[in-house]
This record gives sequence, C-alpha cells and structure tokens, in this order.
Amino acid sequence: MDFPSYYLDHLAGGRLIIGIIACIHVLINHPLAVGAYPLLTYMEWWAHRHGRKDLDELARKITFVVFIVTTTAGAMTGVGIWLSTSVFAPFGIGSLLRVFFFGWFAEWLVFISEVVLIMAWFLTWKKADTPEKKRKHIRLGIILSVMSWLTMALIVAVLGFMMSPGDWNQTRAFVDAMTAPLYLPQLAFRTAFALMTGALFVWFATFFFTKGKDNPTRTWVVARLSHVTMTSLIFLLMFGIWYWLRIPQEMKANSAVALLSQDFAQWHSKFLTLLGWTAGVFCVIALGGMTAPRLIPRWALLIPTFLGIWLLSHFERAREFMRKPWVIGNYLYSNGIRKDEVAFLQHEGILKYATYVKYRTVTSDNKIEAGRDVFMLACSRCHSTTGLNGVVEKFTRMYGPDEWNAAAMKGFLGSMHQTSTFMPPFPGNDAEKDALVAFLLETRTTRTPVSGAQSEGISLPETLTR
Ligand code: HEC
Repeated sequence: MDFPSYYLDHLAGGRLIIGIIACIHVLINHPLAVGAYPLLTYMEWWAHRHGRKDLDELARKITFVVFIVTTTAGAMTGVGIWLSTSVFAPFGIGSLLRVFFFGWFAEWLVFISEVVLIMAWFLTWKKADTPEKKRKHIRLGIILSVMSWLTMALIVAVLGFMMSPGDWNQTRAFVDAMTAPLYLPQLAFRTAFALMTGALFVWFATFFFTKGKDNPTRTWVVARLSHVTMTSLIFLLMFGIWYWLRIPQEMKANSAVALLSQDFAQWHSKFLTLLGWTAGVFCVIALGGMTAPRLIPRWALLIPTFLGIWLLSHFERAREFMRKPWVIGNYLYSNGIRKDEVAFLQHEGILKYATYVKYRTVTSDNKIEAGRDVFMLACSRCHSTTGLNGVVEKFTRMYGPDEWNAAAMKGFLGSMHQTSTFMPPFPGNDAEKDALVAFLLETRTTRTPVSGAQSEGISLPETLTR
C-alpha cells in the first residue's frame, strides 16, 4: 500500500522473476557451496593421510570449478534475490529485514568470510607443500565448510519463519523468529539434500577430470561418494517426514494445488508416485556405486542430476505456494496487507489509505480507473490481468467466456478467502468491489495490458497533488 507497484503484466506481476533467480541461487548454493566444500576438504584430508597425490590434485581441480561458479553466478543471484524482492515485494522484504536485522547482518559477515576463505583456500592450495602447511590448509577447508553451512543456516531461519512464525506472533521477539517451529526440520532437510547432491556433483565432475574405467582415483571417488549419497538419502527422507509433520495443517490443505497447480490438483497422487521414483533412482545409483563402482557410466549420472534439479526447484515452488496467502504466516498477506488491517480497510476502503492511487473514493466517473488501482493493490502481487495466472482467465474458468455476472463476481470477492484459502480476503469496501468488478469486465473485452509504476510513473490523489 505504501509503495508504487512495479508490475509486469505477462509475468503474474513479476513474482516469477524472484522465483527463477532464487531457484538458480539455491541450485548453486546447496550442491556446490554447502555440499561440495566439506566433501572436497575430506578428499584433501584423505589424500594427505594416505599420500594420494592424485586425489589431492583432483580435489583442487574440482574446487576450481566450485570456486568460479559460487563466486560469480552464486553470488550474483544472491544479490539478485535482494534486488527482485525489493522491487516486487518491498513490503515483504522490508518487514523481514526489520524482524531479522541482526540475523541478516551476521549472515552478511559470514558470507564475506566465506568468499575470502574460498579465495584463500583455492589460491594457496599449491603453496601448501609441507605437511605442516597442508594441515593448516585442510583446517582452512573445514572453516570454509562451516561458514558455508552457517550462511544457509541463517537464511533458512527466515524461510521457516515466513511459513510459520510460531510464538513471534505473540511476543515479536527476535529469538522466537530465529527459532520458529519449521526451522530445524527444514535446516536438517536442506543439509541432507546439499550433501547428497554435493556428492553427486563431485562424483560427476570426477568423470571429467579422470580417464579410464579402472582409474584408481575415479574408483575411490565413486566408492566413497556413493556411500555419502546413500546415507544422505536416508537422512533426507527422515528429515523430509519430520518437516512435513511440522507444516501447519491449513497450509497442508494447499499442498495438492501447491505441488502442481489447480488444474492438475487431481494429479497429486501421480506426483507423489513420481517423487517415489526419484528417490528410487537416487537409491539405485548410490547402490550401483557402492557395489560396482566401475560399471556406472558417465551419462548415468545425468539422470540424478536432472532429477535433483527438478526436485529442488519443485520443492521451493511448493514451499512458496503452501505458504500462501501469507508472506509472514498469520501476520502479513502476500499483497502487503497486514492481517490486523483487513477489517479496518474493508470498512473504510483501501484507496483512502493507499499512498500511490489516483482517487480516494469511487464515483461513477472514475469506477474503472479506481478499479485498476484496487487490482494493483489487492491482486497484482499474484495475478496478471490476461497473462500468467491472469484473473481474466480465472473468472472465465469459473463462469465461461460470456456469462460473467457482476453480482456473482462481487459475491466471489466477498468470500474469496473462504472458498480459496490460498488467497487473502478482499481488503476493501463495497464500492471498491464494484470498481474492481467494473475494471475486470472492461479488461475482459479490451484485454488492454496494465503497466506498472516503472513505465506509467506514479499517480497521486487530488488531495495530495494540490
Ligand atoms: C496470495 C496471492 C493471491 C492474491 C493476492 C490473489 N489471488 Fe487469486 N488466486 C491465487 C492463486 C494461486 C489462484 C489459483 C491459481 C491456479 O492454480 O489456478 C487464484 C485463483 C483465483 C481465481 C479462480 C478461482 C479459484 O478459487 O481458483 C480468481 C477468480 C481469482 N484468483 C481472483 C482474484 C482477485 C480478483 C484478486 C484480488 C482481489 C486475487 N485473486 C488475489 C492467488 C492470489
């Protein structure tokens, strides 16, 4: 309500952009930073103890890849999350910043140390040529692994909090925010996932840096890392169940829609079967590596790689959806309206208190334009007009292409939160419902795209401009 709306009509407002950037970030962070560093440190340590120069050299080469990817694409997408959330959901990231100020500040320090450590670790690798120096170098790897995990641990606190803030809703205390009910299960789940995919990544990379089936370096990596994959998979399933059991009941009700989308909700059971198969494939690959390390060809590892990417992206999408209609559970809705304000706004009207709108009250002359502002404030953080997740298409699905009835639509707005629990209640008064309906009816015929403040500029009501 207090920010001009940046809006991209064909991309459901733009939230998809946050999603894409965040998914790339997590797909780099979990397997490479959190998963691979401890495994590469372990390889270096083993090489040092058993005098295996070949393993040491391999660990160094893979570290180079991880170093480049995490400090470029990894770090840039991290900044991208800040940028895209500030643009598309400034109220959400702003509230989270106020709650987690010190957590995020600590995370920033840890992240900076992580970048410095990875540089130091990689760049001094060859210089560590005496046993004494090597021991120090390995210690550096351990600290780096801890720091990488810690960055994730701090950020997961924010993610867990968003779905279920626990006691914070009563106490508003930072400690309660940091230790919200979903924190530990989610952290455990992500740690197991990171180790499993980290092992698969190192395993896969080894195939590029070694030649020949019977190569002893390759056999060592496959034999060891298949055990890591298997163990992490078992933990992943256990922690997954723990996590699932902690998710608030009303959010689980969203899960069928969340995992796919409304049209495909009936596919829920098929989806779960697919999930089972995915776990099965990880299991087969790991068992194959444990029992016959020489037999697994390079291409076979592509299957778990793609399944891993699919699984993690889908997990993030489902988690984000299940949280709906909230940005912060039971506190702040996805359109930036606080739960406490809704009754007031329904009584007084949202236009009256929003900063960037053209009209304060709805009249018969300004109805459609005022309706557009109501759409921007109440719906545009999740819906486009005619593009992705477009409201026109949603109403068409309910009423058919021609049978839209203004009274029925108004009725729908009045009960949207009850009938579709993943949507917030309509945050405006009766006249604003009429205005929104008029705007929607108009958009159905004209299909004119709506543009956001970034191209239209801002509009201020008469009372303010004068
Ligand atoms: C928190 C995000 C969010 C907000 C805010 C939101 N919606 Fe939705 N809405 C959704 C989602 C998600 C769906 C279901 C999409 C799907 O899978 O088809 C949906 C579905 C709908 C449907 C189809 C009916 C149904 O129950 O599935 C209509 C109509 C609709 N929205 C209208 C609106 C209008 C009008 C507004 C603004 C007053 C609004 N929505 C605000 C997320 C939201």
